[in-house]
Amino acid sequence: MAILPIRLLGDPVLRQQTRAIESVDNEIKQLIGDMMETMHNAAGVGLAAPQVGYLEQLFVVDISPLLDEMPEDSRDNIPKQPMVFINPEITWESEEEEEFEEGCLSIPDIREIVVRPESVELNYQDENMQEQKLTVDGILARVIQHEFDHLEGLLFTDHLSSFRRGILKRKLEGISQGKTEATYPVQSYSRHQKTS
Ligand code: NI
Repeated sequence: MAILPIRLLGDPVLRQQTRAIESVDNEIKQLIGDMMETMHNAAGVGLAAPQVGYLEQLFVVDISPLLDEMPEDSRDNIPKQPMVFINPEITWESEEEEEFEEGCLSIPDIREIVVRPESVELNYQDENMQEQKLTVDGILARVIQHEFDHLEGLLFTDHLSSFRRGILKRKLEGISQGKTEATYPVQSYSRHQKTS
């Protein structure tokens, strides 16, 4: 397994359409392993394939670092971590919405309140290409929706009001230009373009 550089805001790969995975061949297996290692190394709770430059419908999640902070009875319904999601489809979302502070490994050092449905239902395939169906709420629903967005070319900052985006504008532009002190390996599109 290897730690892959995480693509930063401003990289067009974060805005492109992803393609469905037909089978978990050796290349995809390797990618899943690398994404797990990359996510854990960056202390993230989720990572989507476009964030490491692959336009595949794949993300990984591991909320176990957050479970210690949760009341014991609310941990019971949470599937075993970490989780692999292949070709996910959100089939239902609750009308009830919730506010939650989000961050993103592709947008270091920015955390903002985002409003999303409190609960969602999804279909996906696991790492063995087995069909899975899951209804989630709380923190897991939040992480899954954030990662699902990445497969659609969306970032959490797209959900902010234009007022909040205005306040963050300079910081966001700085990240797009590779000005960040992330504690994990990153790859800036603008710097990459200049040096290669
Ligand atoms: Ni993200």
